[in-house]
Parts: sequence; C-alpha cells; structure tokens
Amino acid sequence: MAEFRLPANSKIREGKKWPKAEGKNVKTFKIYRWSPDSGETPQVDTYEINLDECGPMVLDALIKIKNEIDPTLTFRRSCREGICGSCAMNIGDGKKGGTNTLACTKYISDMGSDVVINPLPHMEVVKDLVPDLNKAYAQLASIEPWMKTQTPPPPDQERLQSPEERKKLDGLYECILCFSCSTSCPSYWWNGDRYLGPAVLLQAYRWIADSRDEYTGERLDNLEDPFRLYRCHTIMNCSNTCPKGLNPAKAIAEIKKLMIERQG
Ligand code: SF4
Ligand code: FES
Repeated sequence: MAEFRLPANSKIREGKKWPKAEGKNVKTFKIYRWSPDSGETPQVDTYEINLDECGPMVLDALIKIKNEIDPTLTFRRSCREGICGSCAMNIGDGKKGGTNTLACTKYISDMGSDVVINPLPHMEVVKDLVPDLNKAYAQLASIEPWMKTQTPPPPDQERLQSPEERKKLDGLYECILCFSCSTSCPSYWWNGDRYLGPAVLLQAYRWIADSRDEYTGERLDNLEDPFRLYRCHTIMNCSNTCPKGLNPAKAIAEIKKLMIERQG
C-alpha cells in the first residue's frame, strides 16, 4: 500500500479530547474535524474506544463514536462491505503516513498505535471526513460511462459477448468509484481541474475495452489532450492504494497504447 503524509498544514490545530474509555483494550482515534459553519480552522479531535465493545473495522469505530460519544462526527458510509465506495478516507497509525482506503474493510488491528483518520487528501471538504466529489463526478460524466451504440441490437436478444471479450472487462468493472486512487495521485492533486485522474480514466477504458460499445474512436478523441490523459506520469500511487486491488495505471497505459496504435 502506498503511504503518504498529508501536506503539513500549520492551520490544523489540536482539538477536543473526549472522555477516556474504561477497559484493558483501549485504542485512541485522532480524527480530522472541520465544519464550514464553524468559522474556525480544522482541528483534530481525540477519542478513546474500548475495542472489546467494538467491531473490528475502522468504520465500526467511527459508528460507535458517532452513536455513543459525539453525534456531530460526520462521514459517509452505506454498504459496510467494500461495495458502495462511500467510506473512502485516509487512515494511518500515527507513526507512518496514512493510506487512502475504505474504512469498512480496514482492520483497526492493522494500526500499531493511535489510529489517525483524515478525509481523502487534496479535495474540498464538505464536513469532517466527507470530501466534495462534485468535480470528480462531473469528470466521470464527461467520459460518458455507459454503452453507446449506432447499430440496432440483434432481434429478440441482448448484445452478446464471447467469453474472451467479456474477460477484457475483468479488473475494470469491479471499480466502486471510491476515488482513493485519484486522491493519492500527485498529478491529480496539482492538476485535478484538467487531468481526469486514475479513477475516471479506468472508467473510460472500461467502455473503450467493451466489445459491444461502438464509439471507441470518439472516446479516444475525447481523451486526446495533454492534460485529460497525459498528465499521468506513471507514479503508481493509484494502483498501490486501490482497496479493490485494481490497476488504474495499467488501464491508463492501455489507453495511451491505443492512441499510438491509431496514429498508425
Ligand atoms: S480504481 Fe480502485 S481506488 Fe480507484 S476508484 Fe476504482 S476502486 Fe477506488
Ligand atoms: S461503506 Fe460501502 S464501501 Fe465502505
């Protein structure tokens, strides 16, 4: 897993220390807090939890804190099993830098010391651990992530694929759009207004690679741009951090290969 520190930010202050927990198996959680309504700079609040009374995952701890200690703590979650992508955040152990990953599939026991939790790096923050994904979703919409066809479907049946054609989508269709990869990418940090980033480019390749889609040329035209595609410098943080074990860097390389091939 790629580990990286959040940029040093002297404006993040030490926040509230919540009441200490009782028990032999107590763990400390240091969690980024910021609310747009507060008029204050961000702070890191400290919570303690008795792990004997908590589920094993970081998301279990966040839910316990919200339910039993501090109902104002704000984060996204839905499926609790690594499928919806909504609980992506940056989780570390206080000694090493954090990793972008899913709180619901990250074991608390992976962290040797205090658990340090921040929102996905370099995104606008809506509140606490909730990043603003509007820009990322607009970028996703720009690659038209659905099957586009010109010919009518065969009568009385769906558009079919051979097993080999279907296999080309393995490693692509599993993406849950958590944006852990894009927010681990320095090129996306600095040029996220124009570079599409690994999550969206993996989605773009998912449709380029689909044998049923009939707009490959137009899709490649849409990506032929010094920023949208070519700001990928093969840093590989994306593939190292993906909590689903996918390889967005490879998908980007495949798009670049197709660009060269079509130049003849
Ligand atoms: S490629 Fe992996 S890290 Fe990136 S959005 Fe998809 S599931 Fe998340
Ligand atoms: S809650 Fe759905 S991926 Fe974590």
